[in-house]
Amino acid sequence: AVAEKDGYAHFMLKEIHEQPAAYRRALAGRLLTGYPWVYLPELQLTAERLRQFRSVHIVACGTAYHAGLVGQTAIERWARLPVLTDVASEYRYRQPLITPETLVIVVSQSGETADTLAAMREARRQGAHVLAITNVVGSTAAREADDVLFTCAGPEISVASTKAYTTQLLVLYLFALHMACARGTLPAEEIGPIVEALGRLPEQAAALLERADDVADYAQSIAWQEHLFFIGRGADYAVAMEGSLKLKEISYIHSEAYAAGELKHGTLALIEEGTPVVALATQPELYEKTVSNIKEVIARGAQVLGIAAAGQPDLSVHAHRTLTIPDTHPMLAPALAVIPLQLLAYYASVTLGHDVDKPRNLAKSVTVE
Ligand code: AGP
Repeated sequence: AVAEKDGYAHFMLKEIHEQPAAYRRALAGRLLTGYPWVYLPELQLTAERLRQFRSVHIVACGTAYHAGLVGQTAIERWARLPVLTDVASEYRYRQPLITPETLVIVVSQSGETADTLAAMREARRQGAHVLAITNVVGSTAAREADDVLFTCAGPEISVASTKAYTTQLLVLYLFALHMACARGTLPAEEIGPIVEALGRLPEQAAALLERADDVADYAQSIAWQEHLFFIGRGADYAVAMEGSLKLKEISYIHSEAYAAGELKHGTLALIEEGTPVVALATQPELYEKTVSNIKEVIARGAQVLGIAAAGQPDLSVHAHRTLTIPDTHPMLAPALAVIPLQLLAYYASVTLGHDVDKPRNLAKSVTVE
Protein backbone atom coordinates (compact mmCIF):
# COMPACT_ATOMS: atom_id res chain seq x y z
CA ALA A 1 0.00 0.00 0.00
CA VAL A 2 3.07 2.25 -0.35
CA ALA A 3 1.55 3.90 -3.42
CA GLU A 4 -1.57 4.95 -1.53
CA LYS A 5 0.66 6.70 0.98
CA ASP A 6 2.15 8.83 -1.80
CA GLY A 7 5.65 8.18 -0.51
CA TYR A 8 4.82 9.07 3.09
CA ALA A 9 5.86 6.52 5.72
CA HIS A 10 2.38 6.42 7.24
CA PHE A 11 -1.16 7.47 6.41
CA MET A 12 -1.16 9.77 9.41
CA LEU A 13 1.80 11.76 8.10
CA LYS A 14 0.22 11.91 4.66
CA GLU A 15 -3.06 13.12 6.14
CA ILE A 16 -1.32 15.75 8.26
CA HIS A 17 0.36 17.08 5.13
CA GLU A 18 -2.89 16.98 3.17
CA GLN A 19 -4.38 19.60 5.46
CA PRO A 20 -3.73 22.68 3.30
CA ALA A 21 -5.59 20.97 0.42
CA ALA A 22 -8.33 19.75 2.76
CA TYR A 23 -8.78 23.31 4.12
CA ARG A 24 -9.18 24.57 0.56
CA ARG A 25 -11.86 21.97 -0.15
CA ALA A 26 -13.72 22.67 3.10
CA LEU A 27 -13.81 26.39 2.28
CA ALA A 28 -14.28 26.12 -1.50
CA GLY A 29 -17.21 28.22 -2.68
CA ARG A 30 -18.31 28.87 0.89
CA LEU A 31 -16.70 32.29 1.51
CA LEU A 32 -18.13 35.52 0.10
CA THR A 33 -16.58 38.99 0.04
CA GLY A 34 -19.71 40.66 1.42
CA TYR A 35 -23.06 39.95 3.05
CA PRO A 36 -24.08 37.17 3.78
CA TRP A 37 -20.33 36.34 3.90
CA VAL A 38 -20.83 32.59 4.07
CA TYR A 39 -22.57 30.50 1.39
CA LEU A 40 -24.05 27.22 2.59
CA PRO A 41 -26.93 26.60 0.14
CA GLU A 42 -27.20 22.94 1.16
CA LEU A 43 -28.78 23.93 4.48
CA GLN A 44 -32.52 23.49 4.93
CA LEU A 45 -32.38 25.90 7.87
CA THR A 46 -33.71 29.32 6.91
CA ALA A 47 -32.51 32.61 8.38
CA GLU A 48 -35.86 32.85 10.14
CA ARG A 49 -35.43 29.41 11.71
CA LEU A 50 -31.88 30.30 12.75
CA ARG A 51 -33.26 33.30 14.62
CA GLN A 52 -35.70 31.10 16.54
CA PHE A 53 -33.21 28.83 18.28
CA ARG A 54 -32.72 29.45 21.99
CA SER A 55 -29.82 27.05 22.56
CA VAL A 56 -27.34 24.82 20.79
CA HIS A 57 -26.08 21.40 21.87
CA ILE A 58 -22.93 20.01 20.27
CA VAL A 59 -22.56 16.25 20.65
CA ALA A 60 -19.64 14.09 19.52
CA CYS A 61 -16.92 11.68 20.65
CA GLY A 62 -13.15 11.95 20.99
CA THR A 63 -11.49 14.27 18.53
CA ALA A 64 -14.83 15.38 17.08
CA TYR A 65 -15.85 16.42 20.62
CA HIS A 66 -12.70 18.53 20.84
CA ALA A 67 -13.67 20.23 17.58
CA GLY A 68 -17.09 20.82 19.15
CA LEU A 69 -15.49 22.63 22.09
CA VAL A 70 -13.92 25.12 19.68
CA GLY A 71 -17.22 25.40 17.81
CA GLN A 72 -18.94 26.19 21.09
CA THR A 73 -16.68 29.20 21.66
CA ALA A 74 -17.27 30.45 18.11
CA ILE A 75 -21.07 30.08 18.27
CA GLU A 76 -21.30 31.70 21.70
CA ARG A 77 -19.09 34.64 20.72
CA TRP A 78 -20.41 35.26 17.26
CA ALA A 79 -24.05 34.06 17.29
CA ARG A 80 -24.66 34.85 20.97
CA LEU A 81 -26.47 31.66 21.92
CA PRO A 82 -25.83 29.42 24.91
CA VAL A 83 -24.04 26.24 23.81
CA LEU A 84 -23.68 22.96 25.66
CA THR A 85 -20.99 20.62 24.34
CA ASP A 86 -20.93 17.04 25.55
CA VAL A 87 -19.54 13.66 24.66
CA ALA A 88 -22.27 11.55 23.09
CA SER A 89 -22.05 8.72 25.63
CA GLU A 90 -22.82 11.20 28.44
CA TYR A 91 -25.28 13.46 26.66
CA ARG A 92 -27.94 10.81 26.18
CA TYR A 93 -28.09 9.93 29.83
CA ARG A 94 -28.14 13.41 31.33
CA GLN A 95 -31.75 14.05 30.31
CA PRO A 96 -30.74 17.03 28.19
CA LEU A 97 -33.19 19.92 28.01
CA ILE A 98 -34.30 19.61 24.39
CA THR A 99 -37.12 21.59 22.80
CA PRO A 100 -37.96 22.43 19.17
CA GLU A 101 -35.93 25.60 19.84
CA THR A 102 -32.79 23.54 20.39
CA LEU A 103 -30.34 23.07 17.56
CA VAL A 104 -28.35 19.88 18.05
CA ILE A 105 -25.10 19.67 16.09
CA VAL A 106 -23.52 16.25 15.86
CA VAL A 107 -19.92 16.10 14.69
CA SER A 108 -18.55 12.81 13.35
CA GLN A 109 -15.86 12.06 10.81
CA SER A 110 -17.32 8.66 9.93
CA GLY A 111 -20.96 9.47 10.57
CA GLU A 112 -21.20 5.94 11.99
CA THR A 113 -20.14 6.28 15.64
CA ALA A 114 -22.76 4.38 17.65
CA ASP A 115 -22.89 6.76 20.63
CA THR A 116 -23.20 9.80 18.37
CA LEU A 117 -25.96 8.20 16.29
CA ALA A 118 -27.89 7.21 19.42
CA ALA A 119 -27.62 10.75 20.80
CA MET A 120 -28.75 12.15 17.47
CA ARG A 121 -31.79 9.87 17.29
CA GLU A 122 -32.78 10.77 20.83
CA ALA A 123 -32.46 14.49 20.09
CA ARG A 124 -34.63 14.17 16.98
CA ARG A 125 -37.20 12.12 18.91
CA GLN A 126 -37.47 15.00 21.35
CA GLY A 127 -38.07 17.51 18.58
CA ALA A 128 -34.66 19.13 18.12
CA HIS A 129 -33.42 20.15 14.68
CA VAL A 130 -30.29 18.06 14.06
CA LEU A 131 -27.39 19.28 11.95
CA ALA A 132 -24.71 16.68 11.20
CA ILE A 133 -21.17 17.77 10.40
CA THR A 134 -19.52 14.76 8.83
CA ASN A 135 -16.89 13.73 6.34
CA VAL A 136 -18.65 10.76 4.82
CA VAL A 137 -21.30 11.27 2.16
CA GLY A 138 -24.01 8.64 2.51
CA SER A 139 -23.10 7.88 6.15
CA THR A 140 -25.87 7.14 8.65
CA ALA A 141 -25.48 10.55 10.31
CA ALA A 142 -25.70 12.28 6.92
CA ARG A 143 -28.82 10.32 5.98
CA GLU A 144 -30.69 10.68 9.26
CA ALA A 145 -29.98 14.31 10.17
CA ASP A 146 -32.33 17.18 9.28
CA ASP A 147 -29.37 19.03 7.82
CA VAL A 148 -25.83 18.09 6.79
CA LEU A 149 -22.62 19.98 6.22
CA PHE A 150 -19.78 17.95 4.74
CA THR A 151 -16.24 18.62 5.85
CA CYS A 152 -14.70 17.52 2.52
CA ALA A 153 -11.49 16.28 4.20
CA GLY A 154 -11.19 13.33 1.82
CA PRO A 155 -10.68 9.76 3.05
CA GLU A 156 -8.97 9.49 6.43
CA ILE A 157 -7.33 6.09 6.94
CA SER A 158 -5.19 6.63 10.04
CA VAL A 159 -7.02 5.82 13.29
CA ALA A 160 -5.66 9.08 14.72
CA SER A 161 -7.79 11.82 13.25
CA THR A 162 -6.01 14.88 11.85
CA LYS A 163 -7.44 16.48 8.71
CA ALA A 164 -10.92 15.39 9.76
CA TYR A 165 -10.56 17.44 12.96
CA THR A 166 -9.23 20.58 11.31
CA THR A 167 -11.89 20.55 8.60
CA GLN A 168 -14.54 20.08 11.31
CA LEU A 169 -13.18 23.27 12.87
CA LEU A 170 -13.49 25.13 9.57
CA VAL A 171 -17.07 24.00 9.01
CA LEU A 172 -17.99 24.92 12.58
CA TYR A 173 -16.48 28.40 12.02
CA LEU A 174 -18.46 28.76 8.79
CA PHE A 175 -21.67 27.71 10.44
CA ALA A 176 -21.08 30.00 13.44
CA LEU A 177 -20.61 32.93 11.06
CA HIS A 178 -23.66 31.91 9.04
CA MET A 179 -25.72 31.88 12.24
CA ALA A 180 -24.27 35.20 13.36
CA CYS A 181 -25.24 36.77 10.03
CA ALA A 182 -28.79 35.42 10.18
CA ARG A 183 -29.16 36.55 13.78
CA GLY A 184 -27.49 39.94 13.25
CA THR A 185 -25.20 39.42 16.20
CA LEU A 186 -21.87 40.32 14.59
CA PRO A 187 -21.20 43.65 12.82
CA ALA A 188 -19.90 43.50 9.24
CA GLU A 189 -16.64 45.20 10.26
CA GLU A 190 -15.92 42.21 12.48
CA ILE A 191 -17.11 39.52 10.05
CA GLY A 192 -15.03 40.76 7.09
CA PRO A 193 -11.64 40.25 8.78
CA ILE A 194 -12.68 36.79 10.06
CA VAL A 195 -13.73 35.70 6.56
CA GLU A 196 -10.44 37.02 5.18
CA ALA A 197 -8.49 35.19 7.89
CA LEU A 198 -10.34 31.95 7.07
CA GLY A 199 -9.26 32.30 3.44
CA ARG A 200 -5.61 32.60 4.49
CA LEU A 201 -5.62 29.40 6.58
CA PRO A 202 -4.69 26.95 3.77
CA GLU A 203 -1.44 28.75 2.88
CA GLN A 204 -0.66 29.35 6.56
CA ALA A 205 -1.11 25.64 7.33
CA ALA A 206 1.29 24.87 4.46
CA ALA A 207 3.86 27.33 5.85
CA LEU A 208 3.59 25.71 9.28
CA LEU A 209 4.11 22.23 7.83
CA GLU A 210 7.39 23.35 6.34
CA ARG A 211 8.71 23.54 9.89
CA ALA A 212 7.81 19.93 10.76
CA ASP A 213 11.47 19.11 11.47
CA ASP A 214 11.49 21.38 14.55
CA VAL A 215 8.63 19.35 15.98
CA ALA A 216 10.31 16.05 15.10
CA ASP A 217 13.35 17.21 17.04
CA TYR A 218 11.26 18.11 20.09
CA ALA A 219 9.32 14.81 19.84
CA GLN A 220 12.58 12.85 20.05
CA SER A 221 13.53 14.79 23.18
CA ILE A 222 10.32 13.87 25.05
CA ALA A 223 9.63 10.37 23.67
CA TRP A 224 10.99 8.55 26.72
CA GLN A 225 9.21 10.72 29.29
CA GLU A 226 6.57 9.10 31.44
CA HIS A 227 4.13 11.93 31.34
CA LEU A 228 3.52 15.30 29.82
CA PHE A 229 1.18 18.22 30.32
CA PHE A 230 -0.61 20.37 27.78
CA ILE A 231 -1.88 23.66 29.11
CA GLY A 232 -3.80 26.58 27.65
CA ARG A 233 -6.72 28.92 28.22
CA GLY A 234 -9.89 29.43 26.19
CA ALA A 235 -9.59 28.03 22.67
CA ASP A 236 -6.03 26.96 23.56
CA TYR A 237 -7.42 24.68 26.25
CA ALA A 238 -9.57 22.87 23.67
CA VAL A 239 -6.48 22.45 21.46
CA ALA A 240 -4.50 21.19 24.47
CA MET A 241 -7.14 18.46 24.94
CA GLU A 242 -6.80 17.40 21.33
CA GLY A 243 -2.98 17.42 21.51
CA SER A 244 -3.07 15.28 24.64
CA LEU A 245 -5.51 12.76 23.14
CA LYS A 246 -3.41 12.46 19.98
CA LEU A 247 -0.23 11.79 21.95
CA LYS A 248 -1.88 9.18 24.21
CA GLU A 249 -3.59 7.48 21.29
CA ILE A 250 -0.52 6.67 19.22
CA SER A 251 2.58 7.10 21.40
CA TYR A 252 1.07 5.66 24.63
CA ILE A 253 2.81 8.40 26.61
CA HIS A 254 0.54 9.52 29.40
CA SER A 255 -0.47 13.15 29.18
CA GLU A 256 -3.04 15.47 30.60
CA ALA A 257 -4.57 18.61 29.22
CA TYR A 258 -5.25 21.29 31.75
CA ALA A 259 -6.88 24.69 31.72
CA ALA A 260 -3.76 26.69 32.56
CA GLY A 261 -5.45 28.62 35.38
CA GLU A 262 -6.65 25.42 37.03
CA LEU A 263 -3.19 23.88 37.59
CA LYS A 264 -2.73 25.49 40.97
CA HIS A 265 -5.86 23.73 42.23
CA GLY A 266 -4.06 20.43 42.46
CA THR A 267 -2.21 19.43 39.33
CA LEU A 268 0.88 21.54 40.04
CA ALA A 269 1.78 18.80 42.54
CA LEU A 270 2.66 16.57 39.57
CA ILE A 271 5.15 19.00 38.04
CA GLU A 272 8.69 17.93 38.90
CA GLU A 273 12.20 18.70 37.74
CA GLY A 274 12.20 18.03 33.99
CA THR A 275 8.44 17.44 33.47
CA PRO A 276 7.66 18.48 29.88
CA VAL A 277 4.86 21.02 29.54
CA VAL A 278 3.49 22.17 26.20
CA ALA A 279 1.97 25.60 26.79
CA LEU A 280 -0.32 27.14 24.20
CA ALA A 281 -0.49 30.93 24.29
CA THR A 282 -2.13 31.98 21.04
CA GLN A 283 -4.94 34.06 22.56
CA PRO A 284 -3.95 37.76 22.91
CA GLU A 285 -6.57 38.46 25.61
CA LEU A 286 -5.24 35.62 27.74
CA TYR A 287 -1.55 35.91 26.89
CA GLU A 288 -0.34 37.51 30.13
CA LYS A 289 -2.39 35.09 32.23
CA THR A 290 -0.91 32.11 30.40
CA VAL A 291 2.60 33.52 30.79
CA SER A 292 2.07 33.64 34.55
CA ASN A 293 1.03 29.95 34.45
CA ILE A 294 4.18 29.17 32.45
CA LYS A 295 6.21 30.85 35.20
CA GLU A 296 4.37 28.75 37.81
CA VAL A 297 5.37 25.46 36.17
CA ILE A 298 8.93 26.58 35.44
CA ALA A 299 9.35 27.49 39.11
CA ARG A 300 8.56 23.79 39.86
CA GLY A 301 11.16 22.54 37.36
CA ALA A 302 9.06 22.08 34.19
CA GLN A 303 10.65 22.18 30.73
CA VAL A 304 8.31 24.28 28.63
CA LEU A 305 7.61 24.25 24.91
CA GLY A 306 5.60 27.40 24.22
CA ILE A 307 3.30 27.71 21.21
CA ALA A 308 2.54 31.32 20.40
CA ALA A 309 1.09 33.35 17.56
CA ALA A 310 3.28 35.59 15.42
CA GLY A 311 2.70 39.23 16.20
CA GLN A 312 2.50 38.68 19.95
CA PRO A 313 5.20 39.39 22.53
CA ASP A 314 8.14 37.00 22.30
CA LEU A 315 7.38 33.86 24.31
CA SER A 316 10.99 32.66 24.11
CA VAL A 317 11.91 34.93 27.01
CA HIS A 318 9.73 32.68 29.21
CA ALA A 319 9.66 29.21 27.62
CA HIS A 320 12.65 26.90 27.05
CA ARG A 321 11.66 26.35 23.42
CA THR A 322 9.04 28.05 21.30
CA LEU A 323 7.11 27.41 18.14
CA THR A 324 5.29 30.23 16.41
CA ILE A 325 2.13 29.83 14.38
CA PRO A 326 1.26 32.32 11.63
CA ASP A 327 -0.79 35.34 12.65
CA THR A 328 -4.55 34.79 12.36
CA HIS A 329 -7.82 35.77 14.04
CA PRO A 330 -7.57 34.40 17.62
CA MET A 331 -10.72 32.29 17.22
CA LEU A 332 -9.14 30.55 14.22
CA ALA A 333 -5.81 29.84 15.93
CA PRO A 334 -6.80 26.23 16.82
CA ALA A 335 -6.79 25.34 13.11
CA LEU A 336 -3.06 26.18 13.06
CA ALA A 337 -1.93 25.48 16.64
CA VAL A 338 -3.07 21.86 16.49
CA ILE A 339 -0.74 21.05 13.57
CA PRO A 340 2.49 20.98 15.64
CA LEU A 341 0.67 18.85 18.23
CA GLN A 342 -0.36 16.33 15.55
CA LEU A 343 3.26 16.20 14.40
CA LEU A 344 4.45 15.82 17.99
CA ALA A 345 2.24 12.76 18.51
CA TYR A 346 3.31 11.35 15.16
CA TYR A 347 7.06 11.72 15.67
CA ALA A 348 6.91 10.51 19.29
CA SER A 349 5.11 7.37 18.10
CA VAL A 350 7.64 6.81 15.28
CA THR A 351 10.57 7.36 17.67
CA LEU A 352 9.15 4.70 20.00
CA GLY A 353 8.56 2.28 17.11
CA HIS A 354 4.79 1.99 17.50
CA ASP A 355 2.25 1.13 14.82
CA VAL A 356 1.28 4.72 14.07
CA ASP A 357 -1.73 4.11 11.84
CA LYS A 358 -3.19 1.26 13.89
CA PRO A 359 -2.68 1.94 17.59
CA ARG A 360 -3.44 -0.84 20.06
CA ASN A 361 -7.00 -1.31 21.32
CA LEU A 362 -8.49 1.32 19.00
CA ALA A 363 -10.74 1.23 15.93
CA LYS A 364 -11.19 3.94 13.33
CA SER A 365 -14.91 4.00 13.79
CA VAL A 366 -16.51 2.81 17.03
CA THR A 367 -19.79 1.16 16.12
CA VAL A 368 -20.59 -0.22 19.59
CA GLU A 369 -21.98 1.84 22.45
C1 AGP B 1 -9.37 10.46 17.01
O1 AGP B 1 -8.00 10.50 16.83
C2 AGP B 1 -9.93 9.21 17.50
N1 AGP B 1 -9.53 8.07 16.76
C3 AGP B 1 -11.37 9.21 17.99
O2 AGP B 1 -11.39 10.01 19.13
C4 AGP B 1 -12.49 9.67 17.03
O3 AGP B 1 -12.36 11.04 16.79
C5 AGP B 1 -13.85 9.33 17.64
O4 AGP B 1 -13.96 7.94 17.81
C6 AGP B 1 -15.03 9.87 16.87
O5 AGP B 1 -15.12 9.32 15.58
P1 AGP B 1 -16.08 9.94 14.52
O6 AGP B 1 -15.62 11.34 14.26
O7 AGP B 1 -15.97 9.06 13.31
O8 AGP B 1 -17.47 9.94 15.09
